[in-house]
Amino acid sequence: MRSIIDIVDLSEEELRMLMAVALDIIDRPNAYEESCRHRKLATMFFEPSTRTRLSFEAAMYELGGNVISVSSSDSSSAAKGESVADTVRTVSCYADIIAMRHPKEGAALVAANSATVPVINAGDGGHNHPTQTLADLFTIFREKGRMENLTIGLCGDLKFGRTVHSLINAMSRYKGVKFVLISPEELKVPSYVKKDVIQKNTIPYVQTTDLLSYMSELDVLYMTRVQRERFFNEEDYLRLKDSYILTPQKLRGAKPTLSILHPLPRVNEISVAVDADPRACYFKQVENGKYMRMALILKLLKEAGTI
Ligand code: NCD
Repeated sequence: MRSIIDIVDLSEEELRMLMAVALDIIDRPNAYEESCRHRKLATMFFEPSTRTRLSFEAAMYELGGNVISVSSSDSSSAAKGESVADTVRTVSCYADIIAMRHPKEGAALVAANSATVPVINAGDGGHNHPTQTLADLFTIFREKGRMENLTIGLCGDLKFGRTVHSLINAMSRYKGVKFVLISPEELKVPSYVKKDVIQKNTIPYVQTTDLLSYMSELDVLYMTRVQRERFFNEEDYLRLKDSYILTPQKLRGAKPTLSILHPLPRVNEISVAVDADPRACYFKQVENGKYMRMALILKLLKEAGTI
């Protein structure tokens, strides 16, 4: 049974196909409105979420399917001490596909190993978040018209930000990509991402604490929230939380063609004054995420022979 735990579980060709399907869904939504009739998606979210859970659910409804949902760990048997493996095995009896978010790194993999239906990782701790990356990639593709030859700045909490890890993994497969990794010293990209992905693929990169000095070179600026829930103490969070606040002034030296992305939720990292800038793409990114999740659900259910 095929599950999606990591963005590299999908080949470049498969990503291209998913984007093609997402574009077709945008063009011809009616052609898809019965595709998942009588099929059920279970969303199992053991961590807070707005966009990811609701976009999965909206995606399934727009495909004509139904949704059952666990929306917090204290409302399910996880609170009684049930293992992820048992919970997921149980939910496999009710649903045709599962989207799961969990605070523990590796939980999605454990789930996939015991599920009898496809599992989609909707975020596992500070590790990975492949479907946010589908939204990010589709946004980059729609805004730039290409995935190659891009200088991508990633700014904020690069240590705990799972969307950052998945995006670096995904973009490392395209030619001519460069990374500018902008973070406080304490929140640098984990060494396993740097060594096993960036250096292994000989991708040019710089690590800096300064956002402004590289602003003029960027094609994409991916801002992120400091991940409060993954900090060991509140003092460190308070000290680091406002390290970068993107304002219209800071964008003065940026390319007119820059695309500003953020997986959301935003706390303070982007001033609301930036929202009116045509280069701000983060709400388009939200919408793109729903179409890519529709394309992914379709693909996995087709491969499983469920539709
Ligand atoms: C992200 C996440 O959950 O990792 N949110 C999302 O799914 N769009 C980013 C974040 O919480 O900062």
